[in-house]
Amino acid sequence: MRLFFAIELPGDVRETLGTLRLAERNDYRWVDPSLLHVTLAFLGQQPEARLEQLRLVGTTAAEASQAGVLRLGQAGSFGPRREPRVLWIGLDGDVAALLDLQARLARELRGAGFQLEDRAFSPHITLARRREGARSASALEWPPVPNAAGEQHFTMDHLTLVESRLSPRGPSYTKLLEFPLGPAV
Ligand code: 2AM
Repeated sequence: MRLFFAIELPGDVRETLGTLRLAERNDYRWVDPSLLHVTLAFLGQQPEARLEQLRLVGTTAAEASQAGVLRLGQAGSFGPRREPRVLWIGLDGDVAALLDLQARLARELRGAGFQLEDRAFSPHITLARRREGARSASALEWPPVPNAAGEQHFTMDHLTLVESRLSPRGPSYTKLLEFPLGPAV
């Protein structure tokens, strides 16, 4: 199973983010708005037998963390300035709560023997990825001005374990487990 931990986004936020798509840019593969999320930890391929361990890890990290309100922030990109690899929207608001949750999750995952990439976590919502070998006819207008994402906010109150299935038509996601943030009541 190909798995990752994420923060889900509500429908109105995904809809707003969908409007940022640059329709004419076929040199980028735009994420379907229904699939937009904040990745906290990418686990790659894992045997189903490890799900129980992931349930424990998710529960421990989520219970020790706080819910918060996040806001859509500035647009940004990863990779070379002229031909970025990834186009994204950043987050504002209770980012400290998000960073804290991600740090706990990463610590618990490593403690349980899962391998994570070493790069520092940079909270973002990936909107588009550059197609390999794509040729660009014109300069990319990114970040967009004005930023249509505005300051739309949403409540982060649970962590989700997601299964991703890849196909030639793109990925499809299945929510496997949900962990409420904060002490169990
Ligand atoms: P991203 O949002 O930063 O692009 C599901 O594939 C999610 O896992 C993606 O949204 C992606 O996060 C993240 N991810 C991290 N490393 C990955 C990798 N090596 N391959 C695919 N996805 C990865």
